[in-house]
Amino acid sequence: MSASAPQHTPILDLAAQLAGYRDEALAAITRVVDSQQLILGPEVDALEAELAAAVGARGAVGLSSGTDALLVALMALDVGPGDEVIVPAMSFFATAGAVSRLGATPVFVDIDPRTFNMTEEGARAALTPRTKAIIPVHLFGQTADLGALYEEPRAARPALIEDAAQAIGSVWRGRPSGTLGDVCCTSFFPSKNLGCFGDGGAVYGDDVALLDKIRVLRMHGSKPKYHHLLVGGNFRLDALQAAVLRVKLPLLEGWAAARRANAAWYVERLQARGLVGQDLRGERLTLPLTLPHHTHVFNQFVLRTPARDALKAHLERAGIGTMIYYPSPLHTQPCFAPLGYREGDFPEAERACREVLAIPVYPELTEAQREGVLAALCGFFEGEGRA
Ligand SMILES: Cc1ncc(COP(=O)(O)O)c(C=O)c1O
Repeated sequence: MSASAPQHTPILDLAAQLAGYRDEALAAITRVVDSQQLILGPEVDALEAELAAAVGARGAVGLSSGTDALLVALMALDVGPGDEVIVPAMSFFATAGAVSRLGATPVFVDIDPRTFNMTEEGARAALTPRTKAIIPVHLFGQTADLGALYEEPRAARPALIEDAAQAIGSVWRGRPSGTLGDVCCTSFFPSKNLGCFGDGGAVYGDDVALLDKIRVLRMHGSKPKYHHLLVGGNFRLDALQAAVLRVKLPLLEGWAAARRANAAWYVERLQARGLVGQDLRGERLTLPLTLPHHTHVFNQFVLRTPARDALKAHLERAGIGTMIYYPSPLHTQPCFAPLGYREGDFPEAERACREVLAIPVYPELTEAQREGVLAALCGFFEGEGRA
């Protein structure tokens, strides 16, 4: 196959998903356009109530993005200069960026190589008297297992801000993400499990007073209008995005189940082919691990192999879209150089960044597409791709 083969299985196919709810989304958009109530208002109020019910939290606040959700959650917890916030060394930039933007210090910790997530031991080892908060990131769709930290009373631990941008609907030991810490941040970026038609995000959780403070902060800290109790920002969600999200929300659970089924399909067949966890001419294929008592929502299906770049090229030649989340860890990003971290500080995050590759797992994948991905993977690991 030529290097310029068209992709017949992209990493994500939002157009295929749209086909399932297009008419309702357009009707919802028309409703908002006709109302000319374009920012916050009844659509956002309704979304917040429906979202809280769907994720099993007491409340939700619609916001302008997942990044702003993190920022405003940290603001609501009064995080600022002199404070430390523990974050994983492997995440999307926003997790650590939000901390720095408030003048606080991100304190990185290494990940569990099997789940890509921060661990309880890692978080505890990084605690200091200055630790104001911990941000467990539920990377790729699986809740970070912070064990007993999720059970401790608020007075006995720093604030816990869940980053569920990739994990809305994930479950940890029977408890939904969003109810494990003090507040949970999510993103409605189009590629997320619940994506809108642009940028959007939300916080949700059980601490109603904290959610109320975030509601005030998203309107420049004003309550009532033009009376500014706090210095906030413009973190509002558009009514158009809320209306689209209200159409998509009832479909979310079915989509997550389809993602899980696709993931299980890959795992079962790759294991049956004997390709997993063995040395294959020095190239080992490792599949994502779902921990016991966790419900993974597979925003991404991320496999790992030291031959990642060759595998990526091979899959591209076969018309299969892939992505690298993430090519480098956070502690070695140039903007964090003043923090003094070095290559080698977090070997698991660094190695993961060299080995990870996300393959298509979206709910609308057809049987033929899954078979195509499987055949290309088997072709690579059984020899053909490395000629
Ligand atoms: C783990 C994580 N945190 C935060 C964000 C930020 O969300 P947004 O892109 O909506 O600002 C993302 C989105 O990519 C993410 O994956």
